[in-house]
Amino acid sequence: MKILKNYDLTKLNTFGVPARAKYFVEIVSEQELEGLFGLPEFLENKKMILGGGSNVLFTKDFDGIVILNKLKGTEILSEDSESVTIRSMSGEIWHELVLFAVNRGYWGIENLSSIPGSVGAAPVQNIGAYGADLKDVLLHIEAFDVNSGEKKIFTNDNYKKGYRESIFKNEFKEKYFISAVALRLSKVAKKNLKYRSLSEYVEKNKIDVGNPLEISKAVTEIRKEKLPDPKVISNAGSFFKNIIINQSKLDKMLKIYPNMPHFKDEFGIKIPSGWLIEQCGPADGTSWKGKRVGNAGVYENHALVLVNHGGATGQEIANLAEQIISSVYQKFGFKLVPEVNFI
Ligand code: EPU
Repeated sequence: MKILKNYDLTKLNTFGVPARAKYFVEIVSEQELEGLFGLPEFLENKKMILGGGSNVLFTKDFDGIVILNKLKGTEILSEDSESVTIRSMSGEIWHELVLFAVNRGYWGIENLSSIPGSVGAAPVQNIGAYGADLKDVLLHIEAFDVNSGEKKIFTNDNYKKGYRESIFKNEFKEKYFISAVALRLSKVAKKNLKYRSLSEYVEKNKIDVGNPLEISKAVTEIRKEKLPDPKVISNAGSFFKNIIINQSKLDKMLKIYPNMPHFKDEFGIKIPSGWLIEQCGPADGTSWKGKRVGNAGVYENHALVLVNHGGATGQEIANLAEQIISSVYQKFGFKLVPEVNFI
C-alpha cells in the first residue's frame, strides 16, 4: 500500500472531469485496509471511498484522502436446491457479479445488468432498474467503521434502504468502508418482467425468459439503446432521481398535464424526471433533451443523463444541472434532486 500525493482523478470518474486528490491510496486486501486506518494521512484527513467512479461529480479538487477500492473475489457461501448465497468483495465490478450469477443460472439480479459501478457502491445508493431492486436480494453488507477499525454486519433490515437511498449516503456517509456484500439468489426460475419496456422488448425479440442470461442480455440491449456508454461519451447514468408524489398531487398534476407519465411502485408514484426535463429548456424555448452548453450537455436519447462532450469541468456540468433544476421548478413546481454525489 502506497500513499500518493496530488493524484489525478480524471480517469477514475466516468464523467471524465479533471480533479486531484491531496492523498490517494489503492486498497487490494482487508489487511491493507486495516493497516490504512492507523496511518496519519488517513486519520488526519477527510476521506472519500471511490469504486467505479460512476456516480460522482468532482466540481473541485478533493482536499483529503481518496481510497480506491480494489478488493476482489466472489464466492458461494452456501446453497440448497432452491437458493444460493453469494458473497462478493466490494471492489468487484457490479456487472461482473451479474455475469457470475446469470452464467450459473441464478435468478435475482439479471434485471440489474450493465449498471456501471462497483459491488460496494450498489447498496450505498440501493441500485435498481427494470423493476428490480438490490434490496430484494441483499442478505447482508460487511463494513469497517473507519474510526474504530471494527467490522460490522448490516442486515437487510438495518441499512435504511430507500429509493436510491441508504444509511451509507446519510448518517454513515464516509463513516464505513463497505468490504463485501452477500446476496441470496434463486435457483428456481423467477423472471421479473413487470417493467413495461423490458416485457415489450422480450416479447418483440422472442427472448427465452426461462434463462436469466438471456434476460440479462436483453436488459443490456435496452440500456444500450437509451443510455450512453461512458467509454464513448462520459456520463454518470441518471443524474437526477425521479420525483415521488402521492395520489392527490398526481390528480392535480394530471388536470394540468394529462399526458404526464407516472408509475406506481413500492416507493410511491414516480414521475420520470427525464420527461419533466424534456418538457423544459433554456430561455430560447427549445428542449433540454440533446442540448449542448459549452462542453456539457443533456444526452440526446435520455434527458435524465448529463454528459461531458469532452473537456467539460465538473463545475460546467454542475452549472447545467442548476439551470435544469431551476427551469423544471419554474414550470412544474418539482425540485429535482441529484442522484449523483457532488464533491
Ligand atoms: N422519459 C421521457 N424522456 C426522456 C427519458 C424518459 O419522457 O428523455 C420518460 C418516458 O415516459 C419513459 C420514462 O421516462 O417511459 C421512464 O424512462 P426509463 O425507463 O428510461 O427510466 P427512468 O425512470 O428514466 C430509471 C432509473 C434508471 C434505470 C431505469 C430503468 C432513476 C433515477 N433512474 O430511469 O437508472 O436504468 O429507471 O429501470 O431511478 C441510474 O440510476 O443511473 C439509471 C440509469
